[in-house]
Amino acid sequence: MQIKNKTFLVTGGASGLGEATVRYLVAQGANAIIADLNEEAGHKLASELSNNTIFAKCDVTSEEAVQAAIEAGVTKFNSLNGSINCAGIVVVQKLLDREGNPADLAKFSKGIEINLVGTFNVARLVAAQIVKQQTDEEDKGIIINTASIAAFDGQVGQGSYSASKSGVVGLNLPLARELARYGIRVMTIAPGVFGTPMMSKIPDEARHALEQSVPYPKRLGAPEEFAKLCAHIIDNSYLNGETIRVDGAIRMA
Ligand SMILES: NC(=O)c1ccc[n+]([C@@H]2O[C@H](COP(=O)([O-])OP(=O)(O)OC[C@H]3O[C@@H](n4cnc5c(N)ncnc54)[C@H](O)[C@@H]3O)[C@@H](O)[C@H]2O)c1
Repeated sequence: MQIKNKTFLVTGGASGLGEATVRYLVAQGANAIIADLNEEAGHKLASELSNNTIFAKCDVTSEEAVQAAIEAGVTKFNSLNGSINCAGIVVVQKLLDREGNPADLAKFSKGIEINLVGTFNVARLVAAQIVKQQTDEEDKGIIINTASIAAFDGQVGQGSYSASKSGVVGLNLPLARELARYGIRVMTIAPGVFGTPMMSKIPDEARHALEQSVPYPKRLGAPEEFAKLCAHIIDNSYLNGETIRVDGAIRMA
């Protein structure tokens, strides 16, 4: 799919990987709907990128909010061609704490709700919009979801996060197979460790150790490197139904 003049909904588009993707796609001539909970950062980015973007305050777990974001985008840009789902949260808690008390179930569920159910919610509403549109192009739409290498190499305390991201990987093939008849592709990216606000809470020492554990290059991923992979996936119509790791060959112990 050609990126120029196409419209993409980018959830989590106000920060980190989503923000870099908005910037990169808009620089290639696309329009972007920044769908995020963070109003201040979302409005700031939309006003900086001016006419090619709109901000829609949106919780990815809400049907009404995602539908409203899609409609706002279609009203402004005439159609929707795909989504890049970057909205997500990190949940860290062990199954048992130091005193042997069980984990907080609501905290576990919140990670699943935003990272997995939110991804499904966005995919179903975006696909429904694309199917309604008439186009002669080979590629009618593209849905790119964001998992994590934690889907495969989850660490202690990442139960909710790893399970949610494994769920995103699990969604990939059934959705790609189902949407094939409509000419909509579904791809998933599993990032390694990227330098985004999500990672800024990590102390310097732990960050340095993480960087050293990346075989090559020995640094955190740059958000633009994630964005470039999104652009390639959009552009390359033969990529479908696959999860791609972008991680400098890191494998978590
Ligand atoms: N940064 C990394 O190293 C890394 C590694 C692997 C996977 N990921 C995944 O990549 C995605 C983006 O991560 P990031 O590092 O850019 O994080 P980030 O915290 O910089 O950005 C996430 C954005 O999602 C938004 N958001 C959170 N909950 C939301 C909700 N319910 N509805 C709408 N928006 C919501 C936040 O407001 C924020 O703007 C996440 O899914 C994350 O799990 C990140």
